[in-house]
This record gives sequence, structure tokens and C-alpha cells, in this order.
Amino acid sequence: MTALAVSGCRICGGPVTEMLDLGRQPLSDAFPRPADVADEFFYRLALGRCADCTMVQLVEEVPRERMFHHDYPYRSSLSSVMRAHFTGTGRELLATKLTRPGAFCVELGCNDGVMLRTVAQAGVRHLGFEPSAGVAELARGQGVRVRTDFFEEKTAADVLATDGPADVVYAANTICHLPYLDSVLRGARLLLAPGGVLVFEDPYLGDILARTAFDQIYDEHFYYFTAHSVRAAAARFGLELVDVRRLPVHGGEVRYTLAHAGARTPSPAVADLLRQERELGVTGVPALRRFADAVARTRADLVALLRSLKEEGRTVAAYGATAKSATVTNYCGLGPDLIAYVCDTTPTKQGRLTPGAHIPVRPPEAFADPYPDYAVLFAWNHAEEIMAKETGFRAAGGRWIHYVPTVRVR
Ligand code: SAM
Ligand code: TMP
Ligand code: ZN
Repeated sequence: MTALAVSGCRICGGPVTEMLDLGRQPLSDAFPRPADVADEFFYRLALGRCADCTMVQLVEEVPRERMFHHDYPYRSSLSSVMRAHFTGTGRELLATKLTRPGAFCVELGCNDGVMLRTVAQAGVRHLGFEPSAGVAELARGQGVRVRTDFFEEKTAADVLATDGPADVVYAANTICHLPYLDSVLRGARLLLAPGGVLVFEDPYLGDILARTAFDQIYDEHFYYFTAHSVRAAAARFGLELVDVRRLPVHGGEVRYTLAHAGARTPSPAVADLLRQERELGVTGVPALRRFADAVARTRADLVALLRSLKEEGRTVAAYGATAKSATVTNYCGLGPDLIAYVCDTTPTKQGRLTPGAHIPVRPPEAFADPYPDYAVLFAWNHAEEIMAKETGFRAAGGRWIHYVPTVRVR
């Protein structure tokens, strides 16, 4: 299974103009053992924009089974901030959208059950779709009902036949992962009750551009949504964008709510965000060109900083072996010569090497043993949580290297 070059917009078939080439990249969540580095899979990571519907998307598609499988390492519950976010989300869905007797909630990408466990504990009917069997098993351990499968039109039809219509179809950091969004939206439309809603949250293109967060671009993130592009995509499949909410998590996201077309009156927040996007030019070509220039500057600054620290004989490590960091290390050419190791809490990443760049991954306990002089904060979206538990690093004279929105030492 090689990567597939996409011809035309994955949503509307319109012409896609390439805006940023991040080069040859490995799978962002495949952490090889030292013996397995020769078998790594590579594809070309580049961002394009559809001239017709404005959807920003990758120009090559990695086969889904290569990314989401038994050993998919990402675990949602490892962050206390994200646990709190999803417990709050579950409670809100229960209080506002799952109120009728027999209400039914379907989640796509339920991962280790971080959100659905709240719904399950309330005794509300639910089903999680999770193709990655390892994390799906962890969700079952939380009392969550899981189908180890990909959500798409066909599997949505199965659920409708066995469980009946859904009041809520929810997805966090998953819809943007699915190139076959056409099938997913058809499936959601089929499965949703007449008054039901599809609620999903994903990194927001407006925040990515504003922060030069180019590391949000990687194999799993196929789409980079705006209110404009989501509204256009929804309309093609009989759905309507009826609400949006900015979220602070993962460096800036938007939670979109879609309903059957005409079923609900869109909230004023939709018109507000659409207006803001027009004013800031978020959906246009010039903003993407400025972004591409800023990304090149970040690479030059980060490489220059790490090289000069090496020349000075400083020790440099990194914190958080994020999927995002695969883009940074491979685009900037950062290997173990510039970053000695990276600490991460994920058990199945520890003892492995980072994708493509082959930087050793160590447990967080190794961070203080001894502290490096500098640490690149790859998990910048979890900065608050990490700073709070690693106060000893700065106290010992250590300095954090940030590269979002620009390269800085703190
Ligand atoms: N929702 C969790 C969160 O926000 O932390 C997990 C997000 S994780 C980045 C994306 C998840 O979507 C993975 O666990 C993956 O296995 C799952 N996934 C991928 N394709 C899917 C599909 N077609 N249907 C349902 N889940 C899918
Ligand atoms: P994410 O940015 O995709 O959520 O990935 C975060 C990564 O950082 C994940 O591999 C877990 C790791 N991590 C730590 O090592 N320590 C922490 O305190 C947190 C919150 C995450
Ligand atoms: Zn399009």
C-alpha cells in the first residue's frame, strides 16, 4: 500500500493548488524499533487548497490501515487537561443533546474512552467506533461499548439497522483524519435522527495560520477546516452548519455542529466566524502564501539555534514525542546529533525511535537524570500541564525552546 496522489479536491473535485511542500515524511505515529528503521513508510507531505470550495487538504493520502491499527500509540487520556475537557464535553452532551429517554450517542475515534466513559457511566445508550484495536480495548475497560471498525457510510448503515437513529454523532480530532469525508458525511446523515446533530472538533486553520503551527500538518491530519469549508462540505451532503465554538485545546480548535439541512436555525456564532474569516482572509491564497514563508523562517531559525547550541557544547533534548514533531524533525532535518533524546509518557513510544528522524524516546523520569541544558517543547499544546510538572527543569537552569509561533528560548 503506497500513498495515493489525490487528483482534485477530495470533497468537490475542484482544482487543488499546492501551497506548501513539507517534503518526504514518515508515518507520524509509527515509532520504529532500532532494528526496524529500514522498513519505514514514507510519503510526500504537501498542503493544497481547493479553488472551488476553499477546503485545505493534503495532496497525498496515506492508506488508513497504515495509520490506524492494533498498535496505534496515541492515547487521549494521558493528558489531565484533555481528560477534563472530554469529561466536560460528555456532561454537556448529556445535559443538552442526550436528554430524551433512550437517547443514543455515537462517537467516531473514541480512542481509550476518554469522552464516552462519561456517557456510559450515565447509563446512556452509546457506541464508539475505534479501528485501532489496542486503544479500543482500553475503552472497553472503561465500560464503553466499542466497535473496532472505521466509521463510513456502510458501517453507519449497520448501526442504523441494529441500534436505530442517533441523537448525537460526536468526533474529536478524528473527522479531519478521514479523507473519505464524503462517505463519513453520508453515513452521519443516514444515522442521525431528524433532530440529531453531528458535533466535531478539529484544529482550526485560522489558529494554524495565526501561530505558524505548521506541525499540525501531518499524515493523519488530512483536512484543515474553516467555517467556510465545513459549511460548503456539509451543504453537499444535505447537512447544515448550525453552530461553531472556538476551543483552546490542542493549540486552537473549532467545534462544529451540523444538523439536517433546514432542521435548525444557525446560531449567530456561525455568521460571526464566517465574517471573521472573510476579514482575516483565512480562506484565501495570500494567507497561505504568508504562512508558507513563515514556516520557512521557523525552520531556518530553529536549525540555526540548535546548531549554535551544539557548537557551544550544550546538551539538548526534547519533550513530547508528538505526531506533530515528526513534521518538525523531518522537515528541519533534526536528528539525534542535534536533539539527543525525547521524553514522553506514552508506554508504547518509550524505547523506540522517533519516525524518520530516529531520536530515541525515553520515559519522562529520564528528563531529570540529568536535566539537559535545553529542551525543545514538541508538546507545545500541552505547555501549561508540562511546565507545571517540570518546574525543576528551569529551577536547575534549564531552558525551553519554543518554535510556535516563532523560535524563542525561555
Ligand atoms: N477522540 C480522541 C481525542 O480527541 O483525543 C482520539 C483522537 S485520535 C487523534 C483519532 C482516532 O480516530 C484514533 O484513535 C483512530 O484510530 C480513530 N479513527 C481513525 N479512522 C477512523 C474512522 N473512520 N472511524 C472512527 N475512528 C477512526
Ligand atoms: P498530542 O499533542 O498529539 O496530544 O501528543 C502529546 C504527546 O506528548 C503524547 O505522546 C504524550 C506526550 N505527553 C507527555 O509526554 N507528557 C505530558 O505531560 C503530556 C500532556 C503529554
Ligand atoms: Zn473543493
